[in-house]
Amino acid sequence: MNKPKLILLDKIGASDLGFITVVETNKNIPFNLQRVYWTYFTPQDVIRGGHAHKELEQVIFAVSGVIIFNTENLNGEREKFILDNPSKGLYIPKLVWRDIQFSHNAVLLCLASELYDENDYIRDYNEFITYKF
Ligand code: TYD
Repeated sequence: MNKPKLILLDKIGASDLGFITVVETNKNIPFNLQRVYWTYFTPQDVIRGGHAHKELEQVIFAVSGVIIFNTENLNGEREKFILDNPSKGLYIPKLVWRDIQFSHNAVLLCLASELYDENDYIRDYNEFITYKF
């Protein structure tokens, strides 16, 4: 069953110079990258997400701030992931429900395997837990 997992990427540099972290398609992320988006200025009391994807795979970073993911797959396995470092990515395979909370300064960067398609979203939780694939 699909399980999200943390991906710890290399930090190139040093604390007195700053760091660079690099993602390369099919090298340190497991898919062909087709889309990049980022979200910002999310109020701290807002929970975003509240959906799963039928096909989309993602790797998500908190390039700034702290972002907490609560996930659930179709086995009912629930996990909590804390993104608190720009070199720490969360790989989310298809068919994983997620709720997302942000610290006030958080910037979420998402690397996505597909172009945007609203038909790929499952936005109803009951539809998700009974989804047949
Ligand atoms: P959504 O994925 O629901 O955001 P979140 O999971 O962060 O709450 O997207 C929010 C809105 O942005 C929704 O109306 C669709 C639109 N959107 C696009 O038009 N293109 C995109 O690539 C993404 C990710 C969202």
